[in-house]
Amino acid sequence: MVAGMTESHPRISKAVIPAAGLGTRFLPATKATPKEMLPVVDKPAIQYVVEEAVSAGLDDVLMITGRNKRPLEDHFDRNYELESALQKKGDAGRLAKVQESSDLATMHYVRQGDPRGLGHAVLCAAPHVGHEPFAVLLGDDLIDPRDPLLARMVEVQEQHGGSVIALMEVAPEQIHLYGCAAVETTVDSDVVKITDLVEKPAAQDAPSNYAIIGRYVLDPHIFDILRKTEPGRGGEIQLTDALQQLAADEKVGGPVHGVVFKGRRYDTGDRGDYLRAIVRLACEREDLGPEFRTWLRSYVTEEM
Ligand code: G1P
Repeated sequence: MVAGMTESHPRISKAVIPAAGLGTRFLPATKATPKEMLPVVDKPAIQYVVEEAVSAGLDDVLMITGRNKRPLEDHFDRNYELESALQKKGDAGRLAKVQESSDLATMHYVRQGDPRGLGHAVLCAAPHVGHEPFAVLLGDDLIDPRDPLLARMVEVQEQHGGSVIALMEVAPEQIHLYGCAAVETTVDSDVVKITDLVEKPAAQDAPSNYAIIGRYVLDPHIFDILRKTEPGRGGEIQLTDALQQLAADEKVGGPVHGVVFKGRRYDTGDRGDYLRAIVRLACEREDLGPEFRTWLRSYVTEEM
């Protein structure tokens, strides 16, 4: 047990990654390939998300998958054929890249079956998670590895108990794309207390411009609530609706806090943002960056 932790307050070690979506915004690329496998520079988007969980100390990862998601399991598994071919060639660099994803974390998979919404996907994790607090990371949200968020959320959960969600301030005309939180300030400038939540409100109905971004640390009581949560927006069982109930009654499952994120986040589910993520991360790469930046500068000068 980690120093300072008691049995009633176990260290958070489990991450749940819902990955059952159809990825229709990226057709035809996603006709036969899961959207989570689309490369961001030279790594599939989902690997960044698993790496983020691991770097926050969560090395037990459960993916909620669906039909046609086999490549996800293969990516995080060994590939002996490829490994021995690279070994024979003496290509240690590429061999390390192949082994990196299978050595990252202990991976588990469960299928969602019916696509009944994010809340339902999270509920599929109940038997694996049990009675501990756990994290949920949405694959479409890519948090720049240089701006850690999840580790701070785990810290806030350990301090306050209950649940913690990630928030980002967005322009009023963007709020209808997100869950939105009504908040009260706390003594910590990056932490707020959540008083109400609403899934994808119209701008005029939004209680604030605090948008939920896809990182959550949840108290396991969320499962009891999700079992009773009726379909909400879009006819789907919404995680936001279940969290709203947690926030409304602190006696069950403790308070809900928000960590306000000011770092770099890319929505890789959106084609424009996906391209921006690739360009930004490629520019920062030691191996590719210098040459790519030189090309990009001259391309922009010539084209604009
Ligand atoms: C989901 C959540 C929403 C949240 C968003 C963050 O929506 O339901 O509350 O703001 O993720 O990316 P989705 O984008 O899956 O429709």
